[in-house]
Amino acid sequence: MNTALFKVDPESPDERVLARAAAILAEGGLVAFPTETVYGLGADATSDRAVARIFEAKGRPQDNPLIVHVSTRDAVPRLAREISPIAESLMDRFWPGPLTLVVRKSTVVAGRVSPGLDTVGIRMPAHRVALRLIGLAGVPVAAPSANASGRPSPTTAAHVMQDLGGRIEAVVDGGPCGVGVESTVLDVTVTPPIILRPGGVTKEEIEDVLGAVVVDRGGAVDGRPRSPGMKYRHYAPRARVYVVYSGPQGDAVTAGMRLSERAAQFARDGSRVGILASAETLQSAAGSAGDDEPSGDRVIWLDAGSESDLPAIAAHLFDNLRRFDDLGVDVILAQAFPETGMGLAIMNRLLRASGGRVISDGD
Ligand code: TXA
Ligand code: MG
Repeated sequence: MNTALFKVDPESPDERVLARAAAILAEGGLVAFPTETVYGLGADATSDRAVARIFEAKGRPQDNPLIVHVSTRDAVPRLAREISPIAESLMDRFWPGPLTLVVRKSTVVAGRVSPGLDTVGIRMPAHRVALRLIGLAGVPVAAPSANASGRPSPTTAAHVMQDLGGRIEAVVDGGPCGVGVESTVLDVTVTPPIILRPGGVTKEEIEDVLGAVVVDRGGAVDGRPRSPGMKYRHYAPRARVYVVYSGPQGDAVTAGMRLSERAAQFARDGSRVGILASAETLQSAAGSAGDDEPSGDRVIWLDAGSESDLPAIAAHLFDNLRRFDDLGVDVILAQAFPETGMGLAIMNRLLRASGGRVISDGD
């Protein structure tokens, strides 16, 4: 299949171009499109046939439910069996935006969107292109992240083409995504609500509205995980990822030393090593590196951004992981970041990408 690439201006997208993409969706085709978080792979959420093709194109496990995207709040009552006052107040505060609400689903939602579940995740993205595309399609749009299953989520149209080019009808290119990590998934069918996946809206922001909120740590209810997507390895580049902790947060000198030491070990064993470190850590490591740096060109440092700006680190996280693949590294050492604000989503993605490979102080 030839994948069409539709380029649009994210601020004022050409209606005629979006109408062509919307027509593909309305006819049951697959269209990838930008949102404020990551690129989504869209299909008509009311059609089992269209939704089935998403799973096929991504190679996604059948039991991992999809998020349904709407362009107005008025679309929600058709999709949900009940909308609690708590859900209403969260929509008031965070929509359009990176918050997915898990609610009881209606029969309008195609069964394959959330197989075996009584619920559906719904969100209204804060992105002009996404909103207009969904509006023109005239149907709610089921859309997982537009990566091949298991890979880092795409934050540019080029990432989508790398993974899904030739497997889907079209990609709408609206430039890079701003948030860079996916939406926060919040189950509001339980009290207090549970964060199933940390994301673009922080735990602290939700607590501002709700008071208490619980973060799911992968627990199961009746023998099945609450968040089916969480049981799979995810966000993973080709290289092996290790998350490296180094004593007190914010100690750039210690972090730089530990990352350099570990990298030198892997490099001695013949690996090409990528290090993802904060700007602060990078600076301290550059300051202390001698001329006789043993690991030489077998170690590549990438600047993740400043620790004082965690949203900026999130914005480039997946792109940085993919860049290491382009650079051909075998091992990625990722510095551990503080788990406050956007740090919770960043660490969730890094730990999932690592598949549990963690290097901590005592190791
Ligand atoms: O930012 C985002 O959320 C992006 C953009 C495209 O909107 N979408 C996205 O979708 O990240 P996906 O499919 O990659 O991740 C959806 C997550 C999975 O972890 C899935 O298990 C969870 O949401 N999820 C979806 N529906 C659910 C439901 N009914 N119950 C529990 N978890 C659900
Ligand atoms: Mg995903």
